[in-house]
Amino acid sequence: MKLKSWDQWLGYVLGLHFPTLVLWGDFGAMALDNGLARTPTMGWLHWERFMCSVDCQEEPDSCISEQLFMQMAELMVSDGWKDAGYEYVCIDDCWMAPQRNSLGQLQADPQRFPGGIRRLANYVHSKGLKLGIYADVGNKTCAGYPGSFGYYDIDAQTFAEWGVDLLKFDGCHCDSIKHLADGYKYMSLALNRTGRSIVYSCEWPLYMWPFHKPNYTKIRQYCNHWRNFADVYDSWESVKSILDWTSSNQEKIVNFAGPGGWNDPDMLVIGNFGLSWDQQVTQMALWAIMAAPLLMSNDLRHISPQAKTLLQDKDVIAINQDPLGKQGYRLRKENNIEVWERPLSNLAWAVAMTNLQEIGGPRSYIISIASLGKGVACNPGCFITQLLPMKMELGFHEWTSSLKTRINPTGTVLFRLEAKRRLHQKA
Ligand code: GLA
Repeated sequence: MKLKSWDQWLGYVLGLHFPTLVLWGDFGAMALDNGLARTPTMGWLHWERFMCSVDCQEEPDSCISEQLFMQMAELMVSDGWKDAGYEYVCIDDCWMAPQRNSLGQLQADPQRFPGGIRRLANYVHSKGLKLGIYADVGNKTCAGYPGSFGYYDIDAQTFAEWGVDLLKFDGCHCDSIKHLADGYKYMSLALNRTGRSIVYSCEWPLYMWPFHKPNYTKIRQYCNHWRNFADVYDSWESVKSILDWTSSNQEKIVNFAGPGGWNDPDMLVIGNFGLSWDQQVTQMALWAIMAAPLLMSNDLRHISPQAKTLLQDKDVIAINQDPLGKQGYRLRKENNIEVWERPLSNLAWAVAMTNLQEIGGPRSYIISIASLGKGVACNPGCFITQLLPMKMELGFHEWTSSLKTRINPTGTVLFRLEAKRRLHQKA
């Protein structure tokens, strides 16, 4: 079951007895070449909002059941989510029956998923969407349901037969780091062998970090995205800690992101309870800069128009999904203001400025244009559009000028810079 904090989690993992520290096993240098996740995966994932609610008598509307996923699939089509790019409806932990069947196959809880996963997949596909499922590399899932250790081929085959399109593979209850690394690799190959296109979402580096620096070259060869850091919670503290971790480790992770493989800072919690409007803007803007999978965990039946507009913002999604596929990074931090930037296709750049000062009102910030985009973004000039918190054309800027803005506490201003190579092109 989910532990309450990163510290607790670390303690838990470090407390495990690992008999030997083994070198990375190698199943061959084959890169993960499944043609999937050429841009970061977009969809909906149940965990942060619905967790492991399994009592459908008590909580008929929020328990983990086929009804929940069918409702989300319906809304994804009727409320514009699919048109905005959200495609995968993903099941997390707690969907399983407590035991495998007599053939050793995983089975969905028969009360909560009376039609089984295959019927649910058919339904989701009939809406033009894709279905994601969850399993675990170890002996049990984090919530204690059957793990895939010893059953990788059977489980990959079962998921493929059911018509599953994405697997989130967790790393709880694994008894050694050799089993962890071998298991993540093995499952990747097992999924490929099924012949079905299944996005492979890993948590391999998250479970590896307490022991040593993960081998991201290897991870990218086997996974379409990978979690590095603790679970997102519905709080500013959590979102901030993810951003902190990412910027502190950017030299180690940013260059490994690209078409087919992405760093995963976890779900979008926009539209829930814990983030203010400005903090929701910050999550959306920075997840776009980080080229993060956009997996919302919220209740699409009850979401404010404002959160919906933010999550469906086409300009921000275009930054997230930019075909160049380069992850952004933190450029500077001064006086509690952070500047992040991301190179985009056609020589454009995205720039985000976040005000981390939690006292006072909006703060002015001024930055020289020449310092952005490695000195080339606006050389000799560029058009700047502010995208968040609201869209505003800011016009042509010369390389020698500066960009001035005001940023709310814990909020972010997101810009798009379009290169203009010659001044006369500005019209
Ligand atoms: C771990 C994962 C979470 C979620 C839970 C489910 O904590 O990191 O994203 O899948 O397990 O139990």
